[in-house]
Amino acid sequence: MKTYAPSRKEGPLDDFTDYRKQGGIAVITFENPPVNALGIDLRKGIAEAIDKAAAADVTALVLTGGGRCFSGGADIREFGSPSIEPMLRGVIDRAESSSKPVVAAVHGVAFGGGFELALGCHFRVAAPSAQFALPEVKLGLIPGAGGTQRLARLIGPEKALGIVLTGDPVGAEDARAMGIVDEVAGGDLVAAAVAFAEARVADGSVLKRACDLDAPKPPDGFFEGQRKKIERRARGLIAPWHCIDSIENAVTLSFDDGMKKEREYFVECRESDQSKAQRHIFFAERQAAKIPDVPKDIAPRQIETAAVIGCGTMGGGLAMNFANAGIPVRVVETDPEALEKGLGVIAKTFEAAVSKGRLTDADRETRMGLIQGTTDYADIADADIVIEAVFEEMDVKKQVFAVLDQTCKPGAILATNTSTLDIDEIAAATERPEQVIGTHFFSPAHIMRLMENVCGRKTAPETIATVMNMAKTIGKVGVLVGNADGFVGNRMYHCYTRQANFLLEEGALPQQVDRVLFDFGFTMGPFAVGDVAGLDVGWRIRQRRAATRNKDERYSPIGDRICELGRFGQKTGAGWYRYEEGSRAPIPDPAIEDIIVDVSDELGIERRDITDDEIRERCLYTLVNEGAMILQEGLALRSSDIDVIWIYGYGFPIHRGGPMFHADRVGVKVVHEALSRLYDIHGELLKPSPLLEEMARDGRTFEDLQKEKTK
Ligand code: NAI
Repeated sequence: MKTYAPSRKEGPLDDFTDYRKQGGIAVITFENPPVNALGIDLRKGIAEAIDKAAAADVTALVLTGGGRCFSGGADIREFGSPSIEPMLRGVIDRAESSSKPVVAAVHGVAFGGGFELALGCHFRVAAPSAQFALPEVKLGLIPGAGGTQRLARLIGPEKALGIVLTGDPVGAEDARAMGIVDEVAGGDLVAAAVAFAEARVADGSVLKRACDLDAPKPPDGFFEGQRKKIERRARGLIAPWHCIDSIENAVTLSFDDGMKKEREYFVECRESDQSKAQRHIFFAERQAAKIPDVPKDIAPRQIETAAVIGCGTMGGGLAMNFANAGIPVRVVETDPEALEKGLGVIAKTFEAAVSKGRLTDADRETRMGLIQGTTDYADIADADIVIEAVFEEMDVKKQVFAVLDQTCKPGAILATNTSTLDIDEIAAATERPEQVIGTHFFSPAHIMRLMENVCGRKTAPETIATVMNMAKTIGKVGVLVGNADGFVGNRMYHCYTRQANFLLEEGALPQQVDRVLFDFGFTMGPFAVGDVAGLDVGWRIRQRRAATRNKDERYSPIGDRICELGRFGQKTGAGWYRYEEGSRAPIPDPAIEDIIVDVSDELGIERRDITDDEIRERCLYTLVNEGAMILQEGLALRSSDIDVIWIYGYGFPIHRGGPMFHADRVGVKVVHEALSRLYDIHGELLKPSPLLEEMARDGRTFEDLQKEKTK
């Protein structure tokens, strides 16, 4: 271990670490805004400060973060580069092996490496608002600096696994109850930590080194039970399984061996494509919030009150989003019965959350209190934003927008949740098209995180900035897209399901297509999704468009035939599958197979064996192809935006990083070759787009393209 020559200076050791004496205690403050990421500079500074304190005339050390938190964790931008000493594990070892008491004073977040550093200290004093988490699993990783080994030894494997497997934060009081935190201190945190350290020196407390503790044995079968529990959720993933393995090691192996294994798992995860995909999405999500056309000096408007028009499937969820974020919201319905019904569904949804232990009764009451129903538009005159979620009919939407324009205060944003209609046409029903924008939420709207924000021709930058900012406030991921048929997500989804339907005509069955895409990692295959969402919605849209459909383009009639039988999916007990009373498990239905085979006959298609590879290629590469066209048309700003849309709106497996990232991994050339081959067989709808063609020729990836654009 390299040691640093202790300097005599008090105060800043370097740009990142401050060292000063408070009484007989060394207070080490590290700072690397905005979240004190533990990059190399910070690690060096902390290591040096610990060494300095070891040699100095002090009796104990307090380690704390400057600015708004203790530390948000490792600097994941360093992941691609060779490791530089001192590594975080070494810094933590230094703290833990100190012969003088080391106290972590934690405010704000102690996440990931930040939490691991705090765990290496002998004691932890926390501000009441402090939060602790090991969120590595969300990036396809496991904690790699002793987090699994120390935490399991400190609080036992059951509680530790809960923290490691969910990645979710634990508040200061809960952390104290679990034994993570020794004292929760209001007021001046550093002063409290110094006092705590002085008391430990005075009473000669034994230093609590987590590495020296024995992790208590959990009940027999605990780890096996945990593995069973995550079977479905963690299918295809590496990290969650290694989280369990590593916590189990804390019980069965020595600390050193457990650390060795933790490191092996960490490196395996870090180098895996899945963690790279998850890290890609982590950055992509943040990137999506940056809109080049919105000047920096445009400030988003504050949303203090909101209104939702229509309290059906989507409107109810939208109202809940605002209430969950503490924003009062008024919901407008056409008549008292519809209103009562809609509000009843909201109340039931909150009640279900309470009975599942996800919400306290008090919170439910507060949130319900924030939602008020009305049938009078005059009641929403003061709302800062109105989101319309009425029937998907242009005339109805236009009428609603004309009324909103008359009723709502100047400057109020008028948004529409339409999933298919032209934003400009809706905006034209008002005198304020600059304040009209699409906010396309996904069902169930209170759960799905995507908000596809659709920019009209006249939408003002301030409107865009406000809606993008609001997405964050209500816990959504906003992505800005252009106004075109289906926007970005549904336009691509249409291509995807179209290929799935063609595959049925050619020889596959819904259960085969769904299995292949489920195995790829989708939450559900396209036919199972259709049954959940309701097949009548798409059917109505197809009927409306039938007159203008290009008759030369291949069209599969199977979906229409199924709807003609009144099979609209789960809500009618049958769709692409059949369902037993009270069950949501799809059961393959011979009646559907008959319909499919009949259609193949009518179309003169000879049914053949369809391989799983073909299903993957046709469904997934068509997505990539359409994504490339969307990029070329400028409907999406970046390929990573398309990835975010697919992860958060369509259940694309996060460990594959979205369709465009997936194409880069497979190789754009490979995707292009496959599409060229399929185009020769199946024609126009699988023709490689010009952009894909060009990229394959030049050997460029979507990531290259994005980098070139942001240069
Ligand atoms: P829905 O039929 O469940 O609800 C529509 C509600 O609007 C009904 O309760 C109706 O009484 C009310 N309504 C109709 N005209 C009204 C008016 N003039 N003033 C006030 N209320 C009125 O429909 P859903 O599914 O909630 O869809 C709403 C919008 O959201 C549509 O534009 C749809 O395309 C879009 N959308 C739907 C998704 C879904 O999965 N259901 C997903 C994304 C967008």
